[in-house]
Amino acid sequence: PRVGVVLTAAGSGQRFGADLPKALVLLRGRPLVAHAASRLAASGVVDEIVVTAPAGFLEHVHAAVTSACDLPVRIVAGGVSRQASVAAGIATLTSAVEVILVHDAARPLASAALVRRLVAAVQSGIDAAIPSVPVVDTVKEIGPGDPPVAARTLERSQLRAVQTPQAFRAAVLRRAHEAGAARARDEVTAVSDDAGLVEALGLPVHLVDGEAAALKITTPHDLAIADILLSESDG
Ligand code: C5P
Repeated sequence: PRVGVVLTAAGSGQRFGADLPKALVLLRGRPLVAHAASRLAASGVVDEIVVTAPAGFLEHVHAAVTSACDLPVRIVAGGVSRQASVAAGIATLTSAVEVILVHDAARPLASAALVRRLVAAVQSGIDAAIPSVPVVDTVKEIGPGDPPVAARTLERSQLRAVQTPQAFRAAVLRRAHEAGAARARDEVTAVSDDAGLVEALGLPVHLVDGEAAALKITTPHDLAIADILLSESDG
């Protein structure tokens, strides 16, 4: 089946604190979005990529991605939320795509092997597969107040932290986003991952083993860790 990727790169990077979008921040002299694109291409299982870019940076993102991979690439302006950006990306993939991966440029080192595992999972007949790792911290739900009080302690063994890429049968993801768009039209009610929209349809989302390399870059500290991971993989 034809595999398409929506690579999200339209975030402002406000928490990162750079004066350019996070996806264009450099790691070893290369933009984060280029690292992500080169690993997607190296998987050998991806046929096309649509990248969501911040308004005003479509050209920059296009240049960064095409320098990193020779797959067909299209760039689309992002929306008010990640969910809206992904919806715009899905609408821009060709209709021949049967498997869709959604991946965050903010996870530049997610490996080609992880990409292949997720695509294989969907090709085996399941609707949705996402990478997950155990949670090491104890997680609490908070109550009202500022600072808040701890309302409830969640059972850690029942929790997983999830990563991207997330893989879906295309028809399922398209349907999940249509239903999700009807529920949320703003940043506040949008979901932070695509699997959540599939869960809302009552369909099973399968968990596959994630990896440390798929860490999310949020702060300069995370970028330093990514640099260390690259040193380790260089041998
Ligand atoms: O902000 P955060 O790191 O959670 O964003 C996750 C991913 O979604 C990033 O790769 C970011 O560029 C992307 N994003 C987007 N459109 C938005 C917000 C975030 O494509 N409106």
